[in-house]
Amino acid sequence: MPDDTAPNLVAATPAHTPHTELSAFVPSFRASAPYINAFRGQTFVVVFGGEVVADETFPNFIADLNLLASLGIRLVLVHGSRPQIEKLLAQREMESRYHKGVRITDEAQLGSVIGATARARARIEAALSMAPRTASVAPIHNRVTSGNFIVAKPIGVVDGVDMKYSGEVRRIDGNAINDCLKDGDIVLMSTLGYSTSGDTFNLTVEEVATQTAIALKASKLIFLLDTPGVLNADGSVISTLYTREASEIATKAPQASDVQLYLSAAVRACQKGVGRAHLIGRKLDGAILQELFTRDGVGTMISVDSLDNLRPATIDDVGALLSIIEPLERQGILVPRARATFEREIERFFLAEHDGQVVGCAALYPFPEAGKAELACLAVSADYRREGYGERLMKAIEKAAKQQGINTLFVLTTRTAHWFIERGFKPATVADLPEKKQALYNFERNSQVYVKAL
Ligand code: ARG
Repeated sequence: MPDDTAPNLVAATPAHTPHTELSAFVPSFRASAPYINAFRGQTFVVVFGGEVVADETFPNFIADLNLLASLGIRLVLVHGSRPQIEKLLAQREMESRYHKGVRITDEAQLGSVIGATARARARIEAALSMAPRTASVAPIHNRVTSGNFIVAKPIGVVDGVDMKYSGEVRRIDGNAINDCLKDGDIVLMSTLGYSTSGDTFNLTVEEVATQTAIALKASKLIFLLDTPGVLNADGSVISTLYTREASEIATKAPQASDVQLYLSAAVRACQKGVGRAHLIGRKLDGAILQELFTRDGVGTMISVDSLDNLRPATIDDVGALLSIIEPLERQGILVPRARATFEREIERFFLAEHDGQVVGCAALYPFPEAGKAELACLAVSADYRREGYGERLMKAIEKAAKQQGINTLFVLTTRTAHWFIERGFKPATVADLPEKKQALYNFERNSQVYVKAL
């Protein structure tokens, strides 16, 4: 079967092998390779409530966690136990009381909290110890460890309500956790913490997880929630959020909802140096793999506000803009434009700044009658390449385009096609350009056309 997109693969198939279509597995496994490589040796903190333990997909979730560990990801799991606690209290005819979504743990209930937490934890440990069902060779055994990694303190009295044995994190012993991770263990943490006076405190899962991720300078903090992610009003998942928008959404969310608790925890973690936070649905089998090993994920990803260093350009920026663009014009990578053009079209540009210095730019040229827009002049100064500025500029342009009701972005490029392809652009032809743009197309330059559906 001739296939000019993958000539080597077809040629390498021996003539006697019946050649069928490339299985969907192969390209998706290949596409995951960059993530597998990037994540090796990184620390991820994964947070889930006690509900997850009772889910039908729990064994698969555990198998996925074991898979992550076997890929060299340093895994810290933080589990909650609310349903288990609720059940035990009900059995003992005790009543759950909450203040602002936080359980009030009195002395009589503390024993039930400890018991229920231990039960949830035992279920998780048992599941993590289970050999994969289909293993034909000896399974890799991931050791699960835990310890008194949390120093706790009482919350005390809030709005006149004594929270009793409900506590807060005073300190996380990051060194001790790191020692365990160094040996390749999976670390499992519960929501019990001990104070220096030897008392036991009941903590919230989001606080334990957030403080742990911060203490470990984790690359990722991943929450499992009831919904497939943070949702738009129409029920669709918001794929990416910067911390600023995320905290706005969290403040407006119903009190003690997953989104309010987890999203604000995600924001705190990102602001304190955790690379990215992800909110993914616990009911979708394999969500964690899809989130981690595909470019667009399935849930909501939160990262630190890039608005600090991404902004629309003003007329005062023309000089700085030219200093970035001119070297690229000289190399023939960008089409030379007159200074006057920049002055006239400055409001089409976005700038990336580092410490107040302009380090990159990109422009959006909309063709609203065609529902399309051009991403033009994407450039990052030589000293700042490969630091994600290009990517963030592209995202800002995509967002601005979407806000203008545009659903297709195109680029013309002669030398950097691979960069755009890696970010979801597909090859197209001059005929795919808006008519107005076709009229301006420079056949001598022979740029390639790439498009991306937004
Ligand atoms: N797989 C990548 C990561 O884990 C990207 C995930 C993107 N997810 C999203 N919800 N937009 O960093």
